[in-house]
Amino acid sequence: LPSPNRKVWQREDSKRILPKRDANSHKGSHGKALIVGGAAHMPGSIAMSAKAALRSGAGLVTVATPKSAVPTIATYVQEATFLPLAEEEGVIKGPVDFDVSAYDGVAVGMGMGRGRESNNLVNHLVSSVKSPLLIDADALYQLKNILGLLRSRTYPTILTPHPGEFAHLVDQPISAIVQSPFSYSREFSKKYGVYTVLKGPATIITAPNGSQFVDLTGNAGLAKGGSGDVLSGILLAMMLQSGSTTHALNSGCMLHGLTAEMLIEDDHSMVDLLATDLIEGLTQTFRTFS
Ligand code: APR
Ligand code: MG
Repeated sequence: LPSPNRKVWQREDSKRILPKRDANSHKGSHGKALIVGGAAHMPGSIAMSAKAALRSGAGLVTVATPKSAVPTIATYVQEATFLPLAEEEGVIKGPVDFDVSAYDGVAVGMGMGRGRESNNLVNHLVSSVKSPLLIDADALYQLKNILGLLRSRTYPTILTPHPGEFAHLVDQPISAIVQSPFSYSREFSKKYGVYTVLKGPATIITAPNGSQFVDLTGNAGLAKGGSGDVLSGILLAMMLQSGSTTHALNSGCMLHGLTAEMLIEDDHSMVDLLATDLIEGLTQTFRTFS
């Protein structure tokens, strides 16, 4: 796996660059995040992303989600504020034009559903977010039609597909992606000017210039619905608190993976581990890093 132009991210790398909290800081110092997604029948994904972002140090988190999903999500993430969106059959209904200028980072797609591919949500965010934008899960399917717009963004764009989502984006069978993950993600990142986090037992992080990093942390306890949603929240929070997108993404992947490893050593097994355990487990991972 390692090669001269690929770096395996080490624990020491993250230790050096994890966010610190200044004694005089206030919530605004740690960044305002917007998380867009969710659906009435899938409130859990975005709720976990939001909670993971807060547990990872984000100063303020706003959740934009279908109106009917707000009470459920708010019960789980009491620290978040909400932007209730119009919906149809429980899914966000376009057109959307909410103001995104106040946020230091935005993530979209978790638990959003794929029913309304014609709505302009992802288009709106790609065109108007003037801060880092992370695109995950169902939003990657909407993005497929407007990939050409990504080059016009002046702030970092981060895509976090698993191999199935990436296969769809690049119009290749999953088997091709699994066979040559480094070359497909490098080609894609360079072509569209984006950061690609291609997730899996080894997660490959590629910068727009084609430089690549490998994160080998984690275990099969993560192979359960929801762990990707937790990762999105962690990555968003890391981006709010770091000057370098590459560092933020590598550290975020490592925090996620090390938390899974630590939980398996201590209280859990790979069979029972839940995404919500990861969120709570972040506490111990941050403590060992400080
Ligand atoms: N070893 C190490 N890490 C793993 C392993 C493994 N065997 N399996 C999974 N992971 C990690 C991945 O690296 C990634 O960080 O767990 C996370 C899984 O993320 P996703 O594949 O996005 O899974 P998740 O989002 O939780 O659940 C599936 O994604 O396809 C969408 O919307 C769909 O709801 C569905 C969701
Ligand atoms: Mg996912």
